[in-house]
Amino acid sequence: MASKSLNIAHRGFSGKYPENTMIAFKKAVEVGCDGIETDVQLTKDKVPVICHDETIDRTSDGSGFISQYTYKELLNMNFGVKFGNEFKNTKIPTLDELLAYVKETGIYLNLELKNSIVLYEGLEEMVIKKIYDYDLSNNVIMSSFNHYSMVKCKYIDAKIKTGLLYEAGLYKPEKYAEYVGCDALHPHFLSVIHKPIVEGIKSKDFLINTYTVNDEKYMKILIDLGIDGIITNYPDKLKSLLLS
Ligand code: G3P
Ligand code: MG
Repeated sequence: MASKSLNIAHRGFSGKYPENTMIAFKKAVEVGCDGIETDVQLTKDKVPVICHDETIDRTSDGSGFISQYTYKELLNMNFGVKFGNEFKNTKIPTLDELLAYVKETGIYLNLELKNSIVLYEGLEEMVIKKIYDYDLSNNVIMSSFNHYSMVKCKYIDAKIKTGLLYEAGLYKPEKYAEYVGCDALHPHFLSVIHKPIVEGIKSKDFLINTYTVNDEKYMKILIDLGIDGIITNYPDKLKSLLLS
């Protein structure tokens, strides 16, 4: 195999544990991931919390938009409900809890700002401040499907690392990356699975962190292509491949 890719656990070890919870993050670290990808939303009282959807319906026993609940109200919801009784006291994590854990373990962290549907005002400033509060600017890369938000992050702090999420088969993505200004591209893996595309991006020194790769066949291809980070629901499977 050509080079070592980073093993990044998508929403933690979400293939086996309740996604985007502290237990899923800890289990991912236990099986040897290098980092975690996770999603940041904002509560009504402006607490950054970790959840993929703008609403809590799919992943908890509650319903409605995170932006309509205070953090204290969200603590009444069970975010392990879909995984049975064993996880019945699973709470929504705050960004602070996760950053403290990242500080403790030294892992890499990809914070995806979920600001394409609800345009959380001030989210970029809040998250960047917290990254510096924990002295984690070298461990963290921010990403978003909202590229205006990533431009804003660079405007707030040129040193903060950003990645542009996308799903389309962009033509010469490195040109777009240069135009926008970022550190990495975060494409869906099918958008970069061809060598000339990877070479084009790498020729301009952008990192490539690709999502969401759960099939070992594709993991192998992407490792051989020299992809920098592979985001997966199964960090255990990827770990085995990287060791082989
Ligand atoms: O950041 C990679 C991936 O998580 C982007 O899509 O919908 O799973 O957040 P999504
Ligand atoms: Mg995500």
